[in-house]
Amino acid sequence: MSSPRIPLAGVIGHPVAHSKSPRLHGHWLRKYGLPGFYVPMDVAPDDLETVLRTLPKVGFVGANVTVPHKEAALEIADVASDRATLIGAANTLTFREDGKIYADNTDGYGFIENLRQGAPDWDPKAGPAMVLGAGGASRAILASLLHAGVPEIMLSNRTRLRADALHHEFGTRIQVVDWVQAGNALEDAALVVNTTALGMTGKPELRIPLDGLQKQAVVTDIVYTPLKTHLLQVAEEIGCHTVDGLGMLIYQAVPGFERWFGQRPEVDETVRKVILE
Ligand code: ATR
Repeated sequence: MSSPRIPLAGVIGHPVAHSKSPRLHGHWLRKYGLPGFYVPMDVAPDDLETVLRTLPKVGFVGANVTVPHKEAALEIADVASDRATLIGAANTLTFREDGKIYADNTDGYGFIENLRQGAPDWDPKAGPAMVLGAGGASRAILASLLHAGVPEIMLSNRTRLRADALHHEFGTRIQVVDWVQAGNALEDAALVVNTTALGMTGKPELRIPLDGLQKQAVVTDIVYTPLKTHLLQVAEEIGCHTVDGLGMLIYQAVPGFERWFGQRPEVDETVRKVILE
C-alpha cells in the first residue's frame, strides 16, 4: 500500500525572490501541523506552460502565480472562475484530480475582505469610491467593488487612456476623472483606494489633496511597505478611517491554502508580524 502523498504548492513568478507567499503559507502549514510544502519557483515566460503541465505530475496540488504570469496562466488553464475571467488574470491555480488546471483570481476577494475586516462600518452602498490607478491590481479591485455593490466608481490614472479602457470594459458605473483633478472629485467619496505602487518604499509618494474628503470616508492602500503610507497618514490627520494593504496580501492567500491543504487559515496579528519580519 502506498502512503498518501505530501501535498506540494508554490508561487511562480519571474523574479520571485521578493514574494512573501512562501513565508505566509509556511507559517500556516507549521501553525496547523499540516503535511505539505510551499516553494518559490522562478519560471521564465516561455517555460510557463510546460511547468504548469508538469507540476501536477510531480505532486503539486496548486500554485499561486504572480507577475508577469497572471494573464498567461489564465489562458493556459482549462477551467476558470467567473471572477478570473472577468479580471482577465489568475493568481491561484488548482491542479484537479481530473488533470485539469482550474484558474481563480482571489486578489479582489483579498482586497474586499481586508476592507471589511479593517473597516467593519464601511458600507459598499454608502457612496461612490475613488480608485487611483488603472493597472492589473486596479482591474481586480474594480471588479470586486462593483460586485460588492458600490454604486459608482471614479477612476483616475496618470495615463488617462488606460482608465478609459477600463470604463469601456466595466461599464457606466465607472466614471473617469483626470489624474490632476482627482483631489477635486473626492467630496462625495465614501472610499478612496490607491492601487498604484506610489508610496511604496523607494517610489515617489502619492500626493493627492484630500482636503475635500469627508471624515466618514475610508481610505485604503494596496501598498504595505511602509504600512502607513503618506496617503494613509494624511487621511488619518483628517480623521478618516484607514486600512493598510498588508491584509489584502494575506486574505488573497486564504482560498488557495484552504483548497490545497484542507484547512481554512486564520488571519491574525501573528501572521501579519511573520510577513513583516
Ligand atoms: P499593477 O499590476 O501592480 O497594478 P501596473 O499594471 O504596472 O501594475 O500598473 C501600475 C499603476 O501604477 C498604473 O496605474 C500606473 O499608471 P500609468 O498607467 O500611468 O503607468 C501607476 N503608476 C506607476 N508609477 C506612477 C507614477 N510615478 N505616477 C502616477 N502613477 C503611476
